[in-house]
Amino acid sequence: MSMAIIINFAYVISAVLFIFGLKMLSSPATARKGNLVSSAGMLLAIVVTLLYAGLDYKWIVLGVAIGTAVGLFAAYRIQMTSMPEMVALFNGFGGIASLLLAWAEYHQNPELSAFIAVVTFLSAFIGGMTFSGSMVAFGKLSEIIPGKAVVFGGQHIINATLLLAAAAGAVMLAMDPAGSYTVFIGIVVIALIFGVMSVIPIGGADMPVVISLLNSYSGIAACAAGFVIHNNILIVAGALVGASGIILTKIMCKAMNRSLANVLFSGFGATTTKAAAGSGPQGEAKPATAEDVYYILEAADSVAFVPGYGLAVAQAQHVVRELGDLLEANDTEVMYAVHPVAGRMPGHMNVLLAEANVSYDQLVEMDDVNPKMDTIDVCVVIGANDVVNPAALDDESSPIYGMPIIETHRAKTVIVLKRSMNPGFAGIQNALFFYPNTRMYFGDAKASIQALVAEFKGAE
Ligand code: TAP
Repeated sequence: MSMAIIINFAYVISAVLFIFGLKMLSSPATARKGNLVSSAGMLLAIVVTLLYAGLDYKWIVLGVAIGTAVGLFAAYRIQMTSMPEMVALFNGFGGIASLLLAWAEYHQNPELSAFIAVVTFLSAFIGGMTFSGSMVAFGKLSEIIPGKAVVFGGQHIINATLLLAAAAGAVMLAMDPAGSYTVFIGIVVIALIFGVMSVIPIGGADMPVVISLLNSYSGIAACAAGFVIHNNILIVAGALVGASGIILTKIMCKAMNRSLANVLFSGFGATTTKAAAGSGPQGEAKPATAEDVYYILEAADSVAFVPGYGLAVAQAQHVVRELGDLLEANDTEVMYAVHPVAGRMPGHMNVLLAEANVSYDQLVEMDDVNPKMDTIDVCVVIGANDVVNPAALDDESSPIYGMPIIETHRAKTVIVLKRSMNPGFAGIQNALFFYPNTRMYFGDAKASIQALVAEFKGAE
């Protein structure tokens, strides 16, 4: 059997492992295993790729050493709350890798067939825009640059012109590959500018959607790069990333009741700044102490915890589970209601709750908890804001109008845990805080819940 057959056979096994791994990632119960299965597929793909003849191992070893060091450092040091930023960086690196690969191949052999010229263009253009777009997304998320949407007159015309110029470059490259080196450099420059231009008009609150979309782009660029170097597993893996990224993007848009076009082009967040918060619903919020909340919870038959981004900031997942266990011991039905876009990345809350070993059967999805909301005694909102804002249901002027929410305001009592009256990521005030059945329990979520745990334990 020739080496090429062995390699391609191993690639088929890798592809199968990727697909099963992805399937397992779709449920919290199997997600960890799915990650391992996919990683095993990738390890196999890398090992057999190293069997190709004529490789210069010294550069590969150097690359693997640097990559491993950076990857290990990032995995150990990056906080859960900074995960979206890390994903943005990884997407960007994927994009630049595809661009550099296409460039290196073209540099070595500029005599391309028309097909290879097209995939070289796609790899470089999509890879380049993914890189610069991801850097802007990283900057916005980590607040190195302002998260606000940057919109100005003629923006769409400039973007359309850039796209047309890139398309013209692609035609020139396909018609005369060897004589179009300068055109290729021009395409790279346009791609980098286009990436920046397409992410700046998108507000910080929409960044997770953008990151998922950029993830999809990085997959498409890798798929094109696979055609450039005739590597089957790169084509398959790239296509899988491209397709899963776009599906995730669609799921997120649906969870916010917005179209992808609205996310990409509406400039959401350009006008709704945090300063606008004062102009939202007003009223008198009723603060509660740990003791007040303890008595409310102690008397409740059913309690739904509704976590949001603040849970991640406070790293309160372990104490929440401890409180949940104490409530269950007190014969209270306990559930965790998770909104699909709570937090700053898909599955953010599920990951945190799984880390704290919250049982999967206690997790309820938004569509399952809302119909029975009127029967729930207490909703404890932990660092969630936009995803429980009733303005999404009844205020047509609100930027989040139409977004499905967890309708905590319909529960008998709502306890909101947060540090201040500050708004959430969309920058708008929340009418829920002024509802007659709402009590505000101010403070860092972890410290607040620790105080409740102490009350329960003190009463034992
Ligand atoms: P947010 O609306 O951002 O609210 C988070 C709340 O947590 C804030 O009101 C903040 O209030 C509070 N908080 C922060 N640190 C805290 C701490 N240490 N202790 C207690 N409270 C703390 O979060 P959300 O309800 O999860 O909504 C997510 C937002 O992201 C939505 O606008 C959603 O559309 C957007 N988004 C998410 C995704 C994904 S995939 N997750 C995708 C696209 C968009 P204080 O500062 O007063 O404490």
